[in-house]
Amino acid sequence: MTTLAQPSSFEERYRAGSPRSQSCFERGQATMPGGLAKGAYYFRPYPLFMERGEGCYLYDLEGRRYVDFANHHTAQILGHNHPAVMAALYAQLEKGIALGAPVTVEAELAEEISGRVPSIEKLRFCNSGTEATLHAIRLARGFTGRNKIAKFEGGYHGSHDVVEVSVSPPLDVAGPESAPHAVPTAGGMSQHAVDEVLVLPYNDEAAAAQRIADHRDELACVIFDPKAGILPLRKDFVRGVVSAAQDNGMLLIFDEIVGFRVGTGGLQEYYGITPDLSVFGKIIGGGFPVGVFGGRADIMDLLDTTRGSTGFFQSGTFSGHPVTLAAGLATLQQLTPEVFAHLDRLGEQLQTGLSDLFARHGVAAQVVGLGSLFSIYFTDEELVNYRSLARADKEVSHRIFHSLLESGLFLSHGLGMNALSVPMNAAHIETLISAMATALAQSE
Ligand SMILES: Cc1ncc(COP(=O)(O)O)c(C=O)c1O
Repeated sequence: MTTLAQPSSFEERYRAGSPRSQSCFERGQATMPGGLAKGAYYFRPYPLFMERGEGCYLYDLEGRRYVDFANHHTAQILGHNHPAVMAALYAQLEKGIALGAPVTVEAELAEEISGRVPSIEKLRFCNSGTEATLHAIRLARGFTGRNKIAKFEGGYHGSHDVVEVSVSPPLDVAGPESAPHAVPTAGGMSQHAVDEVLVLPYNDEAAAAQRIADHRDELACVIFDPKAGILPLRKDFVRGVVSAAQDNGMLLIFDEIVGFRVGTGGLQEYYGITPDLSVFGKIIGGGFPVGVFGGRADIMDLLDTTRGSTGFFQSGTFSGHPVTLAAGLATLQQLTPEVFAHLDRLGEQLQTGLSDLFARHGVAAQVVGLGSLFSIYFTDEELVNYRSLARADKEVSHRIFHSLLESGLFLSHGLGMNALSVPMNAAHIETLISAMATALAQSE
């Protein structure tokens, strides 16, 4: 087993090579907590500031080029500044940016999504995945007349209170593995929200089904993050969860916010399931802020107030923003079965190449992948649930991340939740595999 090179050398070289990023970071500290718009961008010693993107490349403030394997938290499936998206954007900008009235492209994008995903009979647009899960849960509560929700330990659905329960609980307070405690993820969350959540374990359908059945009279829904490309979930497990929810009379809300990039019909086609409601985001906005929630017409029609109040309501100043919708439609129109086949081939090449490399080097590391999504973990433990992911070695990931940056590759910090983009080809994947070999060899 190898031990990887010490952090200081990477971080020292990083500082020497990115003075402009350092000064921007320090400048931001006067006006933003932590110097940044969001904590997720931070890595030690300070994040790399990007100047621009083109195709599958990003360029930092020093003008250095990186192959982008992070793709804006997986949202950029066509890479950066795809000509079809840019043309649609310019056309929309010329017509107007925010018109305060419905625009035709709204119905066009709605038809495109519902044409791809049969369970989506009706849908609504909003501005983020967070909003989409909030509205889907609210509909589930209204439809069933019940208040509690079930979610998975380690599942992420955005940043409103009920879904931020047990996203990353410290293992010493997380409770029994098959019956996890509900643990708030952020300070300031309502205790009422925490009390409303039943937490389920991934990849243990017997325990999940039992907990769902035990609480059937209180639960409005199970909201299910399938952790595509992050945690391998057995098809039997996924189908078992869907049946457990639906057989016990509650709604199954399927979170496709990341997973929709795996194929034309999304992850629900891959697993062969029919959720009651689904939520989307990321690639649907073509690089702009977006959320979508939709599903069964009898549930979604609670929002139809054209014949009078239903008591339900969804708003949002920028919901259904014309620029977002134009970029989203242009993006989905590019995503043909052939394009998904291209991404699948690259994904397979990457998973096989990295797995072989780890085996040859005798490194305790694993790659998890699905379609164009992948994550890398430094652990030899079988990856079955949130807890096994939480025990992976984060310090090694940090050093490998820096080493890959030195080789001109930009991955998500922590190496979880990376994504390929359409402009990539086999040579880009080979570059990642050989840069990983360099990173591992630096330690020998
Ligand atoms: C699975 C999943 N659901 C929901 C969200 C929340 O989406 P947003 O960041 O647009 O609020 C995310 C964001 O990363 C996500 O990965």
